[in-house]
Amino acid sequence: MPRLIHLSDLHFGAHDPVLVTAVEKRLDEEAADLVVISGDFTQRARTEQFEEAAAFLLRIRDAGHEVLAVPGNHDVPLYDVFRRFLSPLTRYKRYIDDSLCPYIEVAGAAVLGINTARSLTFKNGHVSHEQMTMIRDTFAKSNTNQPRILVTHHPLFALPIGDGPELGHVMEHQELALDAIADSGVDLLLAGHNHRASVNDAASLATGAGKALVIQAGTATSTRTRDELQSFNRIEIDGSGVRVTIQRWDGAEFVSGDSQFFERHDSQWELASGEKVATERPS
Ligand SMILES: [Fe+2]
Ligand SMILES: [Fe+2]
Repeated sequence: MPRLIHLSDLHFGAHDPVLVTAVEKRLDEEAADLVVISGDFTQRARTEQFEEAAAFLLRIRDAGHEVLAVPGNHDVPLYDVFRRFLSPLTRYKRYIDDSLCPYIEVAGAAVLGINTARSLTFKNGHVSHEQMTMIRDTFAKSNTNQPRILVTHHPLFALPIGDGPELGHVMEHQELALDAIADSGVDLLLAGHNHRASVNDAASLATGAGKALVIQAGTATSTRTRDELQSFNRIEIDGSGVRVTIQRWDGAEFVSGDSQFFERHDSQWELASGEKVATERPS
């Protein structure tokens, strides 16, 4: 049964070191099969911020954690226009990972990361036609019994926030990207960017979106939160469904909060009976 920790939006440079230490402690307690980090390692893509992010990665890898990461829009320089357009992810490659679209098979799960951060579509993200082919080809080679997990920084959907308006934008090329995801039988879509934790069935967010469960992580360590405290997700997958348990900062440590178990019925994910319905978790 694969167990994942899903971190996002660490934002070194606008981070709280106390939270970073608390995340590392929790990672050691959890001892998951894989730590996914869905982008925005830094606040402004500066060298010293990447150095701090790299030191964090080194520490958790030295502690024995397997990591899969993708870049976020904050890992592309915003104000350094020369670097932004000519070498937008050079520092990310040097300090975080040479691969912008990493793939790993771990504990029976097939996990692919796709870089959605671009110099031009800074906020909304982008999936290229080449990446859509990569999604199809990569998952076509994976075992059909393996859970298939796709990681991006930008969510592919505008997401509901309680009863209020949706947050964010529909990603460029969304329909084509969703076709590739549906064709590939992707089970879980993991993303960040909004600094809000949520879980939704893809079919409830867009037509033709396939059968994926859409899991958003909040920010784990940034001091710039949006109406909810820092958090990350524990994701447990077994033959009967997926359990998502938020790990929420309580002011002293990260503690397990709401836990939701989702079962697949036909091609849709539904909360198991008796589980609490929550597309947004209260802060
Ligand atoms: Fe962010
Ligand atoms: Fe972002």
